Amino acid sequence: MAGTIAAVVVAAGRGERAGGKIPKQYRAIAGEPLVRSTLRAFLTHPRIDFVQPVVNPADERLFLAAAGCLRNLLPAVAGGATRQASVRAGLEALAARSPALVLIHDAARPFLSGALIDRAIAAGSASHAAVPGIAVADTIKTVDRGALVAETLDRDRLRIVQTPQAFAFTLILEAHRRAVAARLESFTDDAALAEWAGQPVSVFEGEPGNVKVTTSDDFARAEIMRLAALSDIRTGNGFDVHAFADGDHVMLGGIRIPHSRGVTGHSDADVALHALVDAILGALAEGDIGLHFPPSDPQWKGVASERFLAFACERVRARNGMIAHLDVTVVCEAPRVSPHRDAMRARIAAIANIPVARVAVKATTSEKLGFAGRGEGILAMATATVRLPWSAE
Ligand code: CTP
Ligand code: MG
Repeated sequence: MAGTIAAVVVAAGRGERAGGKIPKQYRAIAGEPLVRSTLRAFLTHPRIDFVQPVVNPADERLFLAAAGCLRNLLPAVAGGATRQASVRAGLEALAARSPALVLIHDAARPFLSGALIDRAIAAGSASHAAVPGIAVADTIKTVDRGALVAETLDRDRLRIVQTPQAFAFTLILEAHRRAVAARLESFTDDAALAEWAGQPVSVFEGEPGNVKVTTSDDFARAEIMRLAALSDIRTGNGFDVHAFADGDHVMLGGIRIPHSRGVTGHSDADVALHALVDAILGALAEGDIGLHFPPSDPQWKGVASERFLAFACERVRARNGMIAHLDVTVVCEAPRVSPHRDAMRARIAAIANIPVARVAVKATTSEKLGFAGRGEGILAMATATVRLPWSAE
């Protein structure tokens, strides 16, 4: 099928069955909000041209906190009272772009793979309406009201149907418009709506891991699944030195510490952040800070080093990984670092978007020995622990 391919990700539900203080799609699994993982799967897929999120207007701030860091998302549109209404809102928002194909997906299914998206595109292009299904292992029975078995179904004919469901865009948009005009508003998936509209729907191979996080037990299981998938656990180290010079403060761990001297060097010369950046890039084997931000390049002069740390953390996320821990040691005779330790930890945690319990800041003098001991400069060493999805490379 020629033309562009869009994805609608519906995230406007209330997550009532999952309980919790905030709707389930904004809760984190292994440190990453569920909706962000789901959106990222589409944003990083090379064949998806547009990603349209649908959210509840009451969750605007939660959505921003969870997904504000993602680039190339279309502006979120407001969902409705039912999943069907939310999907329709997403489709209407895409209408002006008239994609050829649309993949409709639940935000509550964050584990879909790129291969499943490939299959959805192939099946949707071939048949105009296609859904992922998996065979049923259990025997399924229908029961009557008194919980007596009414019927045993033929297992070979049953499929558990998931999302993303793929449709020719105009076909599904028209079906949605017709359904709402007919006051039919309780279809639980888009295939059911296409079936009602008389469209044959084909089934392609789904993915057992593509579960819908529904109950609080699902969260516990999903956490284990995600951590098991992030089995490539790497540590990287970083080291940085800057000389003291005239000035009245030093930047350390993103915190301005008043001092009788300043520090010369690259950007704002924050040795703690520079060592952390190198530690993270080391864990990724993606070069070092000088490669990405050459000191010879005037655009980095005086820049806040927070930008470099944010960049390194974004590289981890771009590889679908997580930062499990950051640890930095600062070595100097003065200024005293320990009074600022908690502020530094909080700042680093905020930049890296990880819990403060996963950030350690330590400080020591070097017993008046060497350049640090003579008060000529300041040094930092860091270790980053990064978890990435396993790959054979
Ligand atoms: N959804 C939506 N708008 C609604 C209802 C649901 O966008 N009015 C979305 C959900 O956010 C979810 C997907 O549809 O990503 C599948 O719905 P479900 O798993 O049932 O989520 P919730 O409706 O949020 O959960 P619950 O039914 O437990 O309240
Ligand atoms: Mg629901």
